Amino acid sequence: MVLESLKVEDVLKGLSSDTRLLIIDSLKNGPKSAIQVFNDISDNAGIKNRETIYRALERLVDIQILEKKYDLNTKKILYSIKNNTITLSLLSDEVLFQNKKDKSIERIDTENIDISFSNVPQYERTKHVHGLHPYQGKFIPQLVEYLIKKNKFSNKDIILDPFMGSGTTMVECKLRHIDSVGLEISEFNCLLAKVKVNNYNIKKLKEEIDNFEKKSKQVDYSKNINVSEYLQSWFSEEAQKELLHMVNVIKDNDYRYKNVLKIIVSRIARSARLMPHYSLEWAKEPVKEPYYCHKHSRTCYPTENAIKFLHRYCLDSFKRIQQRHQIETSMDKFIDNGKTFENINVSIFSEDSRKFKLPVDNISGVITSPPYLGIIDYHDQHKYSYELFDFKWNFDNEIGPKSNGGGAKAREKYKEDMIKVFENLHSTIKDNAVVNVVIGDRLNMYPEIFDKSSFKVIKVLERPVKWRTSLRAPNFSEKVYIVKKK
Ligand SMILES: C[S@@+](CC[C@H](N)C(=O)[O-])C[C@H]1O[C@@H](n2cnc3c(N)ncnc32)[C@H](O)[C@@H]1O
Repeated sequence: MVLESLKVEDVLKGLSSDTRLLIIDSLKNGPKSAIQVFNDISDNAGIKNRETIYRALERLVDIQILEKKYDLNTKKILYSIKNNTITLSLLSDEVLFQNKKDKSIERIDTENIDISFSNVPQYERTKHVHGLHPYQGKFIPQLVEYLIKKNKFSNKDIILDPFMGSGTTMVECKLRHIDSVGLEISEFNCLLAKVKVNNYNIKKLKEEIDNFEKKSKQVDYSKNINVSEYLQSWFSEEAQKELLHMVNVIKDNDYRYKNVLKIIVSRIARSARLMPHYSLEWAKEPVKEPYYCHKHSRTCYPTENAIKFLHRYCLDSFKRIQQRHQIETSMDKFIDNGKTFENINVSIFSEDSRKFKLPVDNISGVITSPPYLGIIDYHDQHKYSYELFDFKWNFDNEIGPKSNGGGAKAREKYKEDMIKVFENLHSTIKDNAVVNVVIGDRLNMYPEIFDKSSFKVIKVLERPVKWRTSLRAPNFSEKVYIVKKK
């Protein structure tokens, strides 16, 4: 029987890509040609290139999940699902055949995976909601996926990320029906994470985004407005009026999904800043005159308005949320725990991890990446959004910000703060929980941090980071500290 010749490891690896899951969903009602599959899923998965679908189809044939046959009637090669009797639990690396007594079950060996993920293309790193809004210093989703599998976290677990950032851990946990809790000091980051994990009525969302787009175009340029010094210096006069008009459209209308609209306006504002194209992250001064652009090797001009980004970001944000929604719906079919993604709990707290008392004491796993000492000012990277919306500016409570540098004083303060975080979280974490801490620890501070807190290091993985374009850092290594309670 075919099932017995399937290698469990191959099956799991084979199904670990969203494109492949969408393909299987598309083929569930019968054979299709590659073009038919492409037409079926390319819009939803945001795939422009047919080659991507061909490659994914062929991979599924290689691992015997699909078969292809020449069809004499249509004179086409048709792909179909080879075996409909396999049910996978993507939660615990266990493969449940319909005959659940099958003894040939193997565990996948995640140790053989290249955890630099340097071969993962950019579109996979920023797939669906992971690319909803730029955010420097986020996890790549494949790393979170790897840690979930490696630790065999399942839908019985509750995963904590005390430095939640833009919510990568929460998105990946929710996809696998795992409840999660996030703590994050920056209110903007919390908003972004909420938008990424929220459940949506997709039709209503589309209606609201379309309505918002239409109303946002009706700007009264003759109106005098009061704007902050920051907005005055970083945006053209036209862009200031357009952005504030968009903010008012959100305020004045009874939209259900205001948070999504705020993220769209924030993306527009980011692109409309008077930043030179070659330095969208780091420029210290606004550009107000034409300049030589190192990125485009020609003269470029300061951005004159914000409205030109409106349609693009409305469309892109909707598509990304819709894609995640569709992937979650497909994943539901592979996870047989009687739940759907709509009843997975994701709790997000905009709080300080050193102090906040979580209202739970049953955290069974942690996947997190604390700030790297002296590298990023997390509030400041989204300052434009803080200026447009009334998020609380809680910068003084950021641990290890760039603006405090990495000198001896900053190092001592960083270690002290991180010890406070681990001590504060201790009582919420179950005794046998596995805590995964991903960190660029060049100064080797973490052994001391764990030593002085109530956690012990079980294992350290080295993770080469081969390219980080936006941080302009050379290749370096991060560590994944795997720790447990002492
Ligand atoms: C390396 S980032 C985490 C990125 C996240 N893994 C992601 O994928 O988006 C570290 C985060 O810690 C947050 N942070 C800094 N100090 C904090 C504190 N005292 N309490 C909670 N979060 C804090 C920063 O705002 C930043 O978002």
